[in-house]
Amino acid sequence: MAKDAKSANPAGYTYVDHKFDVVIVGAGGAGLRATLGMAEQGLRTACITKVFPTRSHTVAAQGGIAASLSNMGPDSWQWHMFDTVKGSDWLGDVDAMEYMVREAPAAVYELEHYGVPFSRTEEGKIYQRPFGGHMMNYGDGPPVQRTCAAADRTGHAILHTLYGQSLKNNAQFFIEYFALDLIMESDGTCTGVVAWNLDDGTIHRFSAKMVVLATGGYGRAYFSATSAHTCTGDGGGMAARAGLPLQDMEFVQFHPTGIYGAGCLITEGARGEGGYLVNSEGERFMERYAPSAKDLASRDVVSRCMTLEIREGRGVGKNKDHIFLHLDHLDPAVLHERLPGISESAKIFAGVDLTKEPIPVLPTVHYNMGGVPTNYWGEVLNPTARSPDKVSPGLMAVGEAGCASVHGANRLGSNSLIDLVVFGRAAAIRAGQIIDRTSAIPSPNEASVEKIMDRFDKLRHANGSTPTAVLREKMQKAMQEDAAVFRTQHSLDNGCKRISQIWGELRDIKVFDRSMIWNSDLVETLELENLMANAITTVQGAAARKESRGAHAREDFSARDDANWRKHTLARLSEDGKVTLSYRPVHTEPLVAEKDGGISLAKIAPKARVY
Ligand code: FUM
Repeated sequence: MAKDAKSANPAGYTYVDHKFDVVIVGAGGAGLRATLGMAEQGLRTACITKVFPTRSHTVAAQGGIAASLSNMGPDSWQWHMFDTVKGSDWLGDVDAMEYMVREAPAAVYELEHYGVPFSRTEEGKIYQRPFGGHMMNYGDGPPVQRTCAAADRTGHAILHTLYGQSLKNNAQFFIEYFALDLIMESDGTCTGVVAWNLDDGTIHRFSAKMVVLATGGYGRAYFSATSAHTCTGDGGGMAARAGLPLQDMEFVQFHPTGIYGAGCLITEGARGEGGYLVNSEGERFMERYAPSAKDLASRDVVSRCMTLEIREGRGVGKNKDHIFLHLDHLDPAVLHERLPGISESAKIFAGVDLTKEPIPVLPTVHYNMGGVPTNYWGEVLNPTARSPDKVSPGLMAVGEAGCASVHGANRLGSNSLIDLVVFGRAAAIRAGQIIDRTSAIPSPNEASVEKIMDRFDKLRHANGSTPTAVLREKMQKAMQEDAAVFRTQHSLDNGCKRISQIWGELRDIKVFDRSMIWNSDLVETLELENLMANAITTVQGAAARKESRGAHAREDFSARDDANWRKHTLARLSEDGKVTLSYRPVHTEPLVAEKDGGISLAKIAPKARVY
């Protein structure tokens, strides 16, 4: 779409104006699937991304994408749904989960037809491997082969395919543009986004009938994460500054097998292909904790068991502070064919030849279950007590940035990639239904833009005494230490105190580079503010939730408390760093009643979660 005339604001920034039907912020799996779906329908579509699309963090997704294709044995959407509900520890919204698992097979076949090079069975079908928490027979087992894989580079394959297809459908990309904030009307409607072109320093105002946040998670709020350095929760930061709540932020997933020291991911597919964990006594300890699923119990469970083994003195290594993952008993040909990527990662980051030695691993921050609340069409919610599902007009959120909520308190491995494509696609379908193609695209709200640019200008010229990197490390250490795998009131209160202090110290930040072109100092400062919005809502939500559920494991409240806590946390953040918590009900009703072919309510009713 052609650029409009240039204009300038009082701080002296010149704007380049654009008008689109839809603007998507982020070009990972969810952003690209939404972009493609919008562009395919002829909507004038822009995708703004701070990194080149195929460098988005989805590229690092290894093990696969869950869908009940039944290529390797019996499976059904009902079993997938049960596993997802149980994996979520009964916090997920049942309608959204049902939508996801029912749509999953079609969404995967669509990817296949777009050109994703999936691994194949002897008969040429899409290859599927076992993954944690995915079982046959409504959880009774044995593990089901449900995770569709392209070796251990599934995200890479999906991302490249979706980018190519989006270009083919004439989506317009704004690459290496950093989104600053949402343009909001006084009635709460989102009408666009302001972004900074990192390459030439220009400021762009994108006006749109719909903005879609697809900015990924905020793993980098922690010191050790499998997430890329770009995973800074930019969408959550923007939504919070726009006055919208963030939902269920206290649920942070630790992946059992980050490489010790480096934090890089060793896919759960490694255990799916037959790998197992051992402690310093050479014991396959998961057999003791999860007799049925063993090493393929869900991630929160395995991460906790590993932490307990280390705490009780059975960790491996000089400091007895990690665990070994064995793959050396597997056929090297299988490792070469199915797990080539992690063979390389183990060599580079742990100095290990996995055909001969175990890989040193440790639970590492991997995924944020919380995010911007949405319905299962991706429409952002701005709930009130009377209207807990109230839609916030003009705004959608998909993928890890959003919270639909299909993962509840804990996500199953390979349910992330399917979430990205199912809800990226759903957002496009919904946008196609509700966008009025004949109406004019709104002009930018000058007052909103001025506020955005004032904040930008202040940060650009910030002249305190604390470098961004110093404050960021302080935040990452506080989160790592006080909002960890196991939590107590003491650790969480301490975390709240430390993160609030750091919030105050943001006023003393020092940005050394004042330029507008490739100013990584300023980018990192903007990212730090986004991370802090996510971090502060995470610790506050966690300190308030007095039960254990999914990834939120309280040593002082060790049981799940459905009577009081089967509800979503909403955290609203004020400009001075005050967090106000409220709650909204979990959706417990399936989309389709049992009598009409849906799942039985009794099947998915809360019960003890054992693997
Ligand atoms: O272990 C993995 O390959 C990660 C997959 C996921 O997070 O879904």
